[in-house]
Amino acid sequence: FSLKPYNTFGVDAKSKYFTDIRTIDELRDALSFSKQHHLPLLFLGGGSNILLTRDFDGLAIKIDLTGISREEINDNEVLVTAKAGENWHELVMYCLKNNYGGLENLSLIPGNVGTSPMQNIGAYGTEIKDVFVNCQVLDLEDQTLKVFNLEQCRFGYRDSVFKQEGKGRYVILEVTFKLTRKDHHTKTEYGAIRSELDHLGIKNPTIQDISNAVIHIRQSKLPDPKEIGNAGSFFKNPTIPLAQFEALKQQFENIQGYPNGDMVKVPAGWLIEQCGWKGKQLGNVASHKLQSLVIINATGEATGKEIFDFSTQIIKSVQERFGIELEREVNII
Ligand code: EPU
Repeated sequence: FSLKPYNTFGVDAKSKYFTDIRTIDELRDALSFSKQHHLPLLFLGGGSNILLTRDFDGLAIKIDLTGISREEINDNEVLVTAKAGENWHELVMYCLKNNYGGLENLSLIPGNVGTSPMQNIGAYGTEIKDVFVNCQVLDLEDQTLKVFNLEQCRFGYRDSVFKQEGKGRYVILEVTFKLTRKDHHTKTEYGAIRSELDHLGIKNPTIQDISNAVIHIRQSKLPDPKEIGNAGSFFKNPTIPLAQFEALKQQFENIQGYPNGDMVKVPAGWLIEQCGWKGKQLGNVASHKLQSLVIINATGEATGKEIFDFSTQIIKSVQERFGIELEREVNII
């Protein structure tokens, strides 16, 4: 069974078995089947954050639970719950249509709701942890339903309990967010949003204005996975000690950094570009010409292994030149 339609890199890896589930009962059936036949499991959401480096000798389960519900809890707040298989951007559009604020900076992020807590998706000054209430999961160890609140999710930059101790143990079924209905906390500090709004002459942006700005920024530099296979940022932005940053600054005066206590977050895109990778293609794989942090399946024919090897070469060059070890953000299967 080809998984090509189920990963945004468009890699043609095969899975021995495949099923899509629309209810929790169907999920339980699929799990018993895998147990009976001793099959490893691979859960698929929107496929926008995985790299399949080889064929999968097990059961791939596409989570297709859908539905969005809401509960207006007071004059100004609403709880919105979306099932894991809902498309992320469609959820954002649903919120904007109802004038619910909080997710607008996260417009146009590829993927589904169910994977959003895994890596605490974030962009343009917002992370889902800012509006997250809880998520319901199925615990694969005892097949019970559990609820993880904000604290239990232990969100960090592109990180959560689901990538750490809980890795492989929980299937996220639905996520609840607390959003605003009138007093919106619009976030416009991110440089690119600020300049886009200034350019349009908008002084007091609505949540719709912010969404439009974000969509415009993303479309102008991030490749659309429907046209060119990719999984967004391939690496995390590394965080290095301030002393190391100061030392690098002596040598590379243009290096950028965002201080955070005694650590500094350095844009991986800049490091990669400095090593000459921006827009560079080797075989079927390339670094995107407008955002070098994004690795693309340039010909549509790349294998996962080729993409992985390309990323290894990038890690090596950045290590050699800057002494910084890049960490992959994409989930390697
Ligand atoms: N930069 C370069 N060269 C490049 C790319 C970037 O010099 O090829 C520089 C830019 O000039 C800028 C800085 O790096 O000064 C930061 O670039 P950008 O604003 O594009 O953001 P980023 O740090 O590269 C992160 C997220 C994105 C998110 C944007 C906006 C990570 C790993 N990536 O990218 O998330 O959309 O910020 O908030 O944190 C994703 O996770 O898939 C993703 C796209």
